[in-house]
Amino acid sequence: MHWTRTIQRCALALSFGVAAFVARDPSAPAQAANTSVAAETASRQTTGQEWWRHAVIYEIYPRSFQDSNGDGIGDLKGITSRLDYLQDLGIDAIWLTPIYPSPGIDYGYDISNYTAIDPIYGTMADFDNLVAEARKRNIRVIMDYVINHTSDQNPWFIESRSSRTNPKRDWYVWHDGKGETATDKGQPPNNWQSWFGGSAWQWDEKTRQYYYHYFYVQQPDLNWNNPEVRKAMYGVLDFWMQRGVGGFRIDAVSRLFEDPKLHDDPYLPGRNAYGDRNIEHKYTDDLPEVHDVLKEVRAVVDRYPGDPVLVTEADEPNVQALTRMYGNGDEVQLPMDFQIADVNELSAPRFRELFNEIENNNAHGQPEYFFSNHDQRRQWDRYGDGVHNDQIAKLMAVLELTTRGTPQMYYGEELGMRTTDPARIEDVHDPIGRRGWPKDKGRDGERTPMQWDAGPDAGFTTPGVKPWLPIPPSAATYNVETESKNPDSIYNTYKRLLALRKTNFALRDGSQTAVDNNDPDVFAFLRRSGNATVLVALNMSAKTRKVSFHLAGMGVHGSLLSPLYSSPSQSTAPTVDRVVLAPFGTLVAQVQ
Ligand code: NOJ
Repeated sequence: MHWTRTIQRCALALSFGVAAFVARDPSAPAQAANTSVAAETASRQTTGQEWWRHAVIYEIYPRSFQDSNGDGIGDLKGITSRLDYLQDLGIDAIWLTPIYPSPGIDYGYDISNYTAIDPIYGTMADFDNLVAEARKRNIRVIMDYVINHTSDQNPWFIESRSSRTNPKRDWYVWHDGKGETATDKGQPPNNWQSWFGGSAWQWDEKTRQYYYHYFYVQQPDLNWNNPEVRKAMYGVLDFWMQRGVGGFRIDAVSRLFEDPKLHDDPYLPGRNAYGDRNIEHKYTDDLPEVHDVLKEVRAVVDRYPGDPVLVTEADEPNVQALTRMYGNGDEVQLPMDFQIADVNELSAPRFRELFNEIENNNAHGQPEYFFSNHDQRRQWDRYGDGVHNDQIAKLMAVLELTTRGTPQMYYGEELGMRTTDPARIEDVHDPIGRRGWPKDKGRDGERTPMQWDAGPDAGFTTPGVKPWLPIPPSAATYNVETESKNPDSIYNTYKRLLALRKTNFALRDGSQTAVDNNDPDVFAFLRRSGNATVLVALNMSAKTRKVSFHLAGMGVHGSLLSPLYSSPSQSTAPTVDRVVLAPFGTLVAQVQ
């Protein structure tokens, strides 16, 4: 019974290409969209599921994935050439960090034109081809929607800064300084600090006011109180939806609004890597108006077929704030869970607590899990203990891919790629790495080229060409070609788990409940759907642990455990009364 339903759902999911991409003519999206929306709605009524509920998203940092033209920088054609790899791995959607024209101060997060492709990555035709080729492989393309700020080279800002009376003046956040006179710029309007160090206010001599930038000076914040800004930015969504994208990852969403009264932020003890006093971004983060915008964004994308998804970069401080991102089902479907990503130690109690919190969130929203991305040190370094790193990488794969939710991988995590920081300050690309050196070496280390093979250029670029960031020494052994030949590699662990997630009904659809809540080392949980129960047990310690599970009280009466995946392999057949877990060992087993 369950299997039949699973197969039907898969078949319907596979047909998304037909329904989802009809509205390509920018002049007439609505009618085509309506037809397809109807088809999607009908299919959802049969399946009860949107595609993203079962998807695995894979983040690609385009500069670093695959270079096709020998300039040492990854590009769109390069990504297209690797779609077979992604399909074979079991990926359902790729999120591309920004590929729009940009001066590149923040490597694409400073956008000068939201509706074009940066020539460094290729052309619009290359993009359309990528979307079409991805669609053939049932892979959706998710775009980065950088909503909080533009580049200072964006024509909107160039106009805005040209005079106080320019019609676009109010598209950005301008204020007089404190104590400013005709000859003295005075002091910034208040003590707000940039996330990347220094004051968040930049003096502009020509019009003698300060503009606000939450991030780099070259990234002025848009004024989301201005209806014209909203209109222009929603037009950006239309533009990409009409080219057939599957949704958006919304950048820095909690920073959209600032306190109009300009209250000073409270200071916290100590100083950060840039030498500034630590501060609580109380008056610039998470203002309630953010949710009005999210509702509007959702309404725009919901006019298109294919169940477009919104993912938010919402590094919320707790589950209550994270839960607000779901709204009443009318905001974001997948707010990234930074609490879980940043546990930063293998702590069974902490993971148990956090998974339990998000699993029981009162919006009943779908969790979105990840452990690495282009802004933080790779999970290899943050969770590895320096001795058992390969095994821990496999444990993290089990944690990410067997929990209920939508997992989001970061390119190369399936290989055990590690953070490789620049050796010298002169080699640093990311400006915060120069500002914070050596305490904060910036984000180059987690953005190194994808490791395709053991050759000197790792298969990333043309032999002999210098890649934009160096190939890490670990590429000699941690690469796709080498690992795919080893059944026990990190890569093959991911591949097996990704396949299992798709085919096992309880892992695909089941509820998640923690078991043995007091164990200090072993995080274990049940995934259950109908009569199917899967037990997942993760030993987060360096000790061998023998454990037994008391499942009868949870209504689970089987005692046999039939392993679906274990690492290392179990030497004796496990039962619920006796499971032996090696240091950092894992077991995923059907309870029978
Ligand atoms: C978050 C992005 O992930 C990061 O890379 C960027 O620097 C900031 N937002 C500013 O856009």
